[in-house]
Amino acid sequence: MAKLQSSYFVCFGFSIFVNLFFVLKLYVGGEWELSWSRRAAEDAEHVAAISCSGHGRAYLDGLVLDGKEPVCECNSCYGGPDCSEFLTACAANVDNGDPLFLEPFWMQHAAKSAVVVAGWHRMSYTFSDQSYISAELERHIRQLHAIVGNAVTQGRYIIFGAASTQLLNAAVHALSSHNSSSSSSPASVVASIPYYNLYQLQTELFQSTNYVFQGDASLLQNISDDTTIFIEFVTSPNNPDGHLNKAIFQGPNAKAIYDRVYYWPHFTAIPAPADDELMIFSISKFTGHAGSRFGWAVVKDESVYKRMSEYIELSSLGVSRDAQLGSSKAGRGPRVVVPRLEDVPGLIPF
Ligand SMILES: Cc1ncc(COP(=O)(O)O)c(C=O)c1O
Repeated sequence: MAKLQSSYFVCFGFSIFVNLFFVLKLYVGGEWELSWSRRAAEDAEHVAAISCSGHGRAYLDGLVLDGKEPVCECNSCYGGPDCSEFLTACAANVDNGDPLFLEPFWMQHAAKSAVVVAGWHRMSYTFSDQSYISAELERHIRQLHAIVGNAVTQGRYIIFGAASTQLLNAAVHALSSHNSSSSSSPASVVASIPYYNLYQLQTELFQSTNYVFQGDASLLQNISDDTTIFIEFVTSPNNPDGHLNKAIFQGPNAKAIYDRVYYWPHFTAIPAPADDELMIFSISKFTGHAGSRFGWAVVKDESVYKRMSEYIELSSLGVSRDAQLGSSKAGRGPRVVVPRLEDVPGLIPF
């Protein structure tokens, strides 16, 4: 009997030991020990550490030299295998720019801005509520505007798009077909000079029967026409002159699309939260992640919201879930677009 009891205690002790061993193996110093993500994390850090002389960068999805190392992709006017050669015959491009000035900021906050995802991340066409947008990200965007104080979002609809570029045309589409029963002629799309030239290029590209680009807003302002709808691009702050533009056209037939992509505290003072009928934002200028192609519109009118949503749905079935990715932190739930904005101090005072 005593022998049976002692072997019972031996087995019990052994079982406790084995359990403790596996618990300690899972958690080292209170941290989860990585398994399947370790290789991906190592690859990401390895590529990020490749030196390109401060004039370029190597990427995980870049060209690979000899089937081994990704090669440096050099910034304009630099060349050579490590981007150390300055190309003297290089012309400066003042026509367009890239928000790469924010790259050092993200490098300083590398740990907090990194995002790791599983290979089976959101493979479905829709979220579980059958929508194309992350409700958590929408909530975060509203919170972001409230904290920054640059836009009113209460009682407004939010639509996601492939950055502002897709949303700008979605807005033209929605406003030109809206109220179209009262107007037989196509809506006139206008902007104040100097304006961002994509407005014209994109409006003309689609050759819609609902709208036509008419150019300078100030030239058309005094034309009295009760039937034509005027859709005005109002860029505030404006590209290229930085002015906080306001709509020139007023009245029942005037519709404004407020391009607010630069309305962030690192570009301009924010005198008051913007409260326009239709406002467009994107992360391209805000965080500098122009390559992620993520933006959102804040819309007052429900029918305009529905038309814009339909445009996004029919043209792309929503925005890439990877771009919408809200990375989860243990116990705190998913949150914001790549990278987790509220985790990164400095850019916005969270
Ligand atoms: C005024 C303005 N609006 C919109 C865009 C397009 O930006 P994105 O599509 O990356 O949001 C730009 C880009 O330079 C811009 O200057």
